[in-house]
Amino acid sequence: MDISQSDIETQPISPHGGVLINRMVEQDVKDDVLRELPDLKVIFTDRRTICDLVCIACGAFSPLQGFMTRNDYESVISRMRLMDDTIWPIPVTLAVEEETAAGISIGEKVALADENGRFYAVITVTDQFIPDKWREARLVFRTGDIRHPGVKNLIKSPPVYIGGPIDMIQLPENGPCSRYAMKPQQTRRIFAEKGWKTVVAFQTRNPIHRAHEYMQKAALETVDGLLLHPLVGETKGDDIPADIRLKSYEILLHNYYPEDRVVLAVYPGFMRYAGPREAVLHALVRKNYGCTHFIVGRDHAGVGDYYGTYEAHHIFRQFTEDDLGITPIFFEHSFYCYRCGGMASKKTCPHSSENHLILSGTRVREKLRNGEPLPHEFSRPEVSRVLMESISRSEKGMMLN
Ligand code: ADX
Repeated sequence: MDISQSDIETQPISPHGGVLINRMVEQDVKDDVLRELPDLKVIFTDRRTICDLVCIACGAFSPLQGFMTRNDYESVISRMRLMDDTIWPIPVTLAVEEETAAGISIGEKVALADENGRFYAVITVTDQFIPDKWREARLVFRTGDIRHPGVKNLIKSPPVYIGGPIDMIQLPENGPCSRYAMKPQQTRRIFAEKGWKTVVAFQTRNPIHRAHEYMQKAALETVDGLLLHPLVGETKGDDIPADIRLKSYEILLHNYYPEDRVVLAVYPGFMRYAGPREAVLHALVRKNYGCTHFIVGRDHAGVGDYYGTYEAHHIFRQFTEDDLGITPIFFEHSFYCYRCGGMASKKTCPHSSENHLILSGTRVREKLRNGEPLPHEFSRPEVSRVLMESISRSEKGMMLN
């Protein structure tokens, strides 16, 4: 059962913008919407757009009710706020081909389907415009380098943006993630039932290694609960697939975490690899799921060398905590120190780097491919086993960050 808006208002943390958005078509009007569908023009979208649809419809992207119009888009890319001043760091846009846009009028309803023609939503078009994508890349990704995976996706997407509110008819099937698919209303209800007043969220696109565990548990010492919230939308081809990651989270939680202090749920968004700006998005989304705190470690949502190690910390200085509404908890680069005999960071460990275990993604991948277990100081053996088994089954290499 979902939590009501009036109950949400009494919770320790409000949704971003004050109201938890729900753009799912209600059961009593669904037949009318389905009846209209065959008469509508259709936009065929990609998987990333469907991830955005899900996030908007379920309220993860509150206060967004649809894809951005030009004014909000301009405001977001230039000053990280919507027109009404609400913080929003990343454009959420629907890109279509010129011919498609030319056939669509303002005010028209258009169906949104995936490449196989399966309908997911209807958009009521209120704006269409041609963005300067290179400007967007430089402002949002802080680079115009086409090798950056987020810039590449942006530049190769169609040239016209269509804005307007959406109504979601059905959610995509979640496959192996379905057990953990929870809308913000559901996580909020669970936190309320558990009596948690403070909840720290952890975003990840990777299996949990010891540094992740260290940060989560350090944060958990000071709050009531942890939301382990792996991103399961589209990631780069060399990131570990979500089903394998879920297996590794289950086994880790079972062996090393107190059951009554952790909720595992999946975040249906996709990775933009926008580093600092994406760290802010990740925090706001977790606020919508009912979390009061959010962990930001080293090079959060980064890729390659595009961002400085702590750029994703510094970006938060631009906002007051009131404006943000969720408290970021910053962690320095963490590692295992052989002399300390435990996890640490430069903040807590006086020893030189020869005493520290830091494994690059390439080295981890090599070890897994060679059937060598990862050092237990880097990864719990149970997790290492799941990854080794999966990698030996998989033909292509996978990356651990
Ligand atoms: S991310 O794209 O979701 O940021 P990842 O799953 O690698 O990637 O990281 C999840 C979180 O852990 C992020 O906040 C990231 O900054 C942090 N992190 C990962 N490894 C470390 C580490 N060794 N030390 C400190 N923070 C880390």
